[in-house]
Amino acid sequence: MRSFASFVLLAVLASPVLAQTPTVSLLIDNGFPSSGTLSIRSVLNSVATRKGQTFHFGSTWDTSYSSAEASWMTNVYNTFFNHMVAENGCKWSATEPTRGVSSLTQCLGVQSYAVARNASFRGHNTFWHEQLPSWLPGSVTASDLVTNVIPQHVQQEIQGMGAGVTSWDVVNEIVGDGVSNGMCVQNKNDWPTKTADGSGTNLVTDLSFLHAAFTAALQYAPSTTRFSVNDYNTSGNDAKTACMFALLADINANSAVPYNRLAVGFQSHITAAPGQFTAKSDLANTFAKLAALGATGMITEMDVKLSDTSSASERYQAAIWGDYIDACLYASNCFEFINWDPRDDLSWLGASGAGTLFDTNGNPKPAAYEVAARLQRYASGATELCATALGTSQCTVPAGSGSSTSTGSTTSASTSTSSATTTTTPTGPTGCASPMWGQCGGIGWAGCTGCSSGTCQVANAYYSQCL
Ligand code: G3I
Repeated sequence: MRSFASFVLLAVLASPVLAQTPTVSLLIDNGFPSSGTLSIRSVLNSVATRKGQTFHFGSTWDTSYSSAEASWMTNVYNTFFNHMVAENGCKWSATEPTRGVSSLTQCLGVQSYAVARNASFRGHNTFWHEQLPSWLPGSVTASDLVTNVIPQHVQQEIQGMGAGVTSWDVVNEIVGDGVSNGMCVQNKNDWPTKTADGSGTNLVTDLSFLHAAFTAALQYAPSTTRFSVNDYNTSGNDAKTACMFALLADINANSAVPYNRLAVGFQSHITAAPGQFTAKSDLANTFAKLAALGATGMITEMDVKLSDTSSASERYQAAIWGDYIDACLYASNCFEFINWDPRDDLSWLGASGAGTLFDTNGNPKPAAYEVAARLQRYASGATELCATALGTSQCTVPAGSGSSTSTGSTTSASTSTSSATTTTTPTGPTGCASPMWGQCGGIGWAGCTGCSSGTCQVANAYYSQCL
């Protein structure tokens, strides 16, 4: 007969989701609201005051919503979101269904709705290998594509949508998942770097399609609009993220887009499971590296898929969302945060994915309250919390919540702005030096703490850099 202890052990092993879901500590356990009406429009104004410019916090909108859904959305926009993106209405299939004929009805419809709600609007997207009009990929030649088709499409869409667009996803999902053979931009091995007929013959064999898109965007957009490369899995410490940085340098060099107009959109379609999202420390590092270039980062399509809607899972979801919004808030160069789809039953994940801030009845979930709390706490001037998604073994939010304590390897983070000039305390080996722009310190950093050029300056608790 099995002992009670071995029965418990087997039960735990048979419940991988429970076993993997860490216990987390949240602001909503510590004095911030976890129920009742959520109204944060005025908080967003205070966030903007601390940020020094508008903080755009929003969601998708689709013109196909029913009147009941639209009515719910209107209420949420009046109280919660201040920013909007068209889920599908600005994609190529919607905006140029016939070659050379601009059709911005859907895209303008979403923008008008945003304006009516006193919300800002961003553009998604001018180029993607999905949701193409039926005449594409078609039989256009590489030369026609790069010289005519792409520039004309980008021009007519960006010009047509005018000045009221905070940022455009000029290209979407073009960084390859498998970085190999020195070619890291593979456009997902899809059109136009590979023909759609499966012949394996490349249509465009270089990045001229990309340069054409950015050159046109720069030429026809107002000077206030940012241009982003929007992709998934480019916010971490890995080869795909490195490719993204190489790509930015390429766009800067070949399309003459200055870094202060360039942005990376981190889509952030993630799953609530350890290892299935970018750690807060890596997010902070990536934002800081972009800031060092003068470029912006933004969270553009956040959802956090759940395998169940237990309290533990929803709390873990809230902790992850909290880390992501904190990483954006405390970065000096993040001003847009989009939640992909407004509520679970309107999500591309399906209601069972439970991946959004609001449930299928339209009620705010713990993640919505936690995000509201993070915004409020940031607006009050408080320092950054430790990474709550690591669980209570490493990050505990204290009662009172004006500050954070932590145990283990993660400590409470300092206020982080790009203007911080404090020289970091060495945490890695001495006697070696990082080059200009290289990392030279931060939580978890085990590399060189000296600089062969410049001085080591703290960007945030996780990242110091030779500048
Ligand atoms: O409009 C047609 C409709 O006429 C038809 O009856 C119906 C039948 O299925 O399909 C409708 O089109 C659907 C479209 O959404 C509009 O609802 C497509 O089938 C469907 O594939 C499409 O899905 C969108 C998907 O992009 C396309 O890949 C999702 O709504 C949208 O959320 C999703 O968004 C993408 C981002 O643009 C880029 N990053 C990933 C993200 C999630 O996949």
